[in-house]
Amino acid sequence: MFGELSYRTGDYVVVPRATTHRWLPDTSDGAVSRLYVIEANSHISPPKRYLSRFGQFLEHAPYCERDLYGPDEPLLVEGDDVEVLVRHRGNGPGGIVGTRMTYATHPFDVVGWDGCLYPYTFNIEDFEPITGRVHQPPPVHQVFEGHNFVVCNFVPRKVDYHPLSVPVPYYHSNVDSDEVMFYVGGDYEARKGSGINIGSISLHPGGYAHGPQPSAIEASLGAEYFDELAVMVDTFRPLDLGEAGLAAEDPAYAWTWAGRGPEEGGPAVFSNS
Ligand SMILES: [Fe+2]
Repeated sequence: MFGELSYRTGDYVVVPRATTHRWLPDTSDGAVSRLYVIEANSHISPPKRYLSRFGQFLEHAPYCERDLYGPDEPLLVEGDDVEVLVRHRGNGPGGIVGTRMTYATHPFDVVGWDGCLYPYTFNIEDFEPITGRVHQPPPVHQVFEGHNFVVCNFVPRKVDYHPLSVPVPYYHSNVDSDEVMFYVGGDYEARKGSGINIGSISLHPGGYAHGPQPSAIEASLGAEYFDELAVMVDTFRPLDLGEAGLAAEDPAYAWTWAGRGPEEGGPAVFSNS
């Protein structure tokens, strides 16, 4: 309803809540769109600490207004009896509540708009990594925030350059968050050898100690550059796993730190209860 917004590989497409929209994937030349969806019960916006009190990006922000792309011009579509799915607040099965509406005329009939709320794209390649002599804490990777969660990205970057630094992260147990990682590209150094590949999604629940693969620490010493691309969602409320998540589980993953597996007939590797 705000106009056409094209997307390309590596784009975040930020769609405000209650924006009537549709996806038209480009299928020319056999192109396939693989989309990772982050849905929230709030708006998703740049971190407040990167914005001035006037709402502009500050100079230490890892991206700025020039990196955001909105729709260029209105998109007008003719149509009668157009079906529109309206998602609304509620506690339906799986947290999804909605209404299937039929509009007499096409909702894409907006001839112009003004204001500060609109969809836009931001490409992960335009994120300028913040690096340091010693290990930088996860918030340097933050790109967006919503109610009770943050979105971070790990991009190709120069790594810690103190002569005694250990470039992979330290062990931690997520005191305040559940941590979902989506491995987009490159080679994620800290989990090398754990079975993580491009397209993998890992879930490290709060309280569960985790860190680099045992051999990854030694392998990272002296490294100057990590060629990794991953998107992380840290939630400050506990996450539940849906059917698809449970069906896709690799039960060996949770044991990759231990170097051993569950005993025959022993407790289940994972329980959702
Ligand atoms: Fe973690």
